Amino acid sequence: MARLKWEDSLSTGVSLYDEQHQKLIRYVNELRDGMMGKNEGDAVEKTLVSLLDYTNTHFFDEEIELYKRDYPEYEKHKAEHDRFLWAVRGLYVRFKTGRANSRMIGAEILATA
Ligand SMILES: [Fe+2]
Repeated sequence: MARLKWEDSLSTGVSLYDEQHQKLIRYVNELRDGMMGKNEGDAVEKTLVSLLDYTNTHFFDEEIELYKRDYPEYEKHKAEHDRFLWAVRGLYVRFKTGRANSRMIGAEILATA
């Protein structure tokens, strides 16, 4: 998988949220790079923790702000958040319980992003 790249078509028109989305792209790219290195398990764990922290902290705030601004694609964007949150939580549970190894989890994160 190629590194993800920010594109103007991804813009919400709200610079704070664009910056947050760019951060997500950075986490995913770090994971991709980490999986090519020796400490794959560490890279996967670090990325999962970052993603969980990020999504728990920022997605909800962002949804409230977008809703307040009558953002036209609010429902679509919220559905993207929900899909991503659901996927990351599931991956974390499987990783922490040893039900999936780091290579499987890493590949799934990259497929989800
Ligand atoms: Fe968002």
